[in-house]
Amino acid sequence: MNSQTSSLEFSHFPVMLSEIIQISNPKKGGLFVDCTFGGGGYSKALLEFQKTKVIAIDRDSNVISIANKFKKKFKNRFQFYQLRFSQMETVLRKENVDTIILDLGLSSIQLNNLDRGFSFKSKKNLDMTMGLTDKSAQYVINNLSESQLVSIIRILGEEKDAKKIARNIAKARVEKEITRVDELVNIIEKSKKKNFSPKINPSTKTFQALRIFVNKEITELINGIIKASQILKPGGKILIVSFHSIEDKIIKYFFKNFSKNRSKPSRYLPETQNDNFCLFDNYSHKAIKPSKNEIKKNNPSRSAKLRYATRSNQKFIFPTDLIKKFNKYLNLEAINV
Ligand SMILES: C[S@@+](CC[C@H](N)C(=O)[O-])C[C@H]1O[C@@H](n2cnc3c(N)ncnc32)[C@H](O)[C@@H]1O
Repeated sequence: MNSQTSSLEFSHFPVMLSEIIQISNPKKGGLFVDCTFGGGGYSKALLEFQKTKVIAIDRDSNVISIANKFKKKFKNRFQFYQLRFSQMETVLRKENVDTIILDLGLSSIQLNNLDRGFSFKSKKNLDMTMGLTDKSAQYVINNLSESQLVSIIRILGEEKDAKKIARNIAKARVEKEITRVDELVNIIEKSKKKNFSPKINPSTKTFQALRIFVNKEITELINGIIKASQILKPGGKILIVSFHSIEDKIIKYFFKNFSKNRSKPSRYLPETQNDNFCLFDNYSHKAIKPSKNEIKKNNPSRSAKLRYATRSNQKFIFPTDLIKKFNKYLNLEAINV
């Protein structure tokens, strides 16, 4: 075993693994799609059950070395594709998939690699690309208009000082191109002097916004869950672990409004598309959260929420209302960089 690969693999702690295994029930076998392979924590646990097959996907080329080890060990029970999960239909056959799992966001492998510029502790280039991405955060910061930066930081980061931060970025880049993470951190800290909270690092929200924008994470999520619901077999499950409120809002809306037990709309409201069809069986509205014990062992899991739904036997119809509802994010991520 190559020691660098093995340390990579184990440097990510899989979030809510026992809950994922309990809900997806791999004991009986079946085809599982791990859309966010990362350090391979979920794939490995699923493959320990002899009758399972796993197709894993990740956009990040850095995890290929881990996937290659899995291929050697599990042979024809494991396949890996470097893809964005919004393209999952290119490697999956419709209606033979039992379970699709998405564990959104960044892995610790990515966050802790300071060369990649995801962490505000880094002094390296402002990269923030996860893989199969068009432009880096450095390009975005230096080339988008000030008002576009305000929208990105306010809407994707939910940062109330977005205007001040964008103003100071625009001022600084006139002097010199902003290239390093610590330069951006200084600009944010200067802009948030009055709003310093001891609970949250002042850069957290702006970094979240840039990372989401650079990797088009909301577009990926929306297209990914639509593709998943098209591919899953009736009775198949989709499980999603999310880490911030925009993601959770989208997942909750999709599962709740396209399930059999959705609340009936008022008869005075105009009829919407989702009044007529349901992609999912009865949906349990409560999100599952990590136990206190897990949070103690792995602090980044504290903001995780797990939601899942079971595919109904109704024919797939494209959920146009989901797109309409969250168009604001899709339009924002579609800004031409
Ligand atoms: C939180 S980690 C997953 C960790 C994994 N569950 C484990 O146990 O090791 C998220 C992974 O998903 C990948 N990822 C994020 N968005 C993606 C997308 N749209 N398509 C494919 N992979 C994506 C990231 O590159 C990262 O490796």
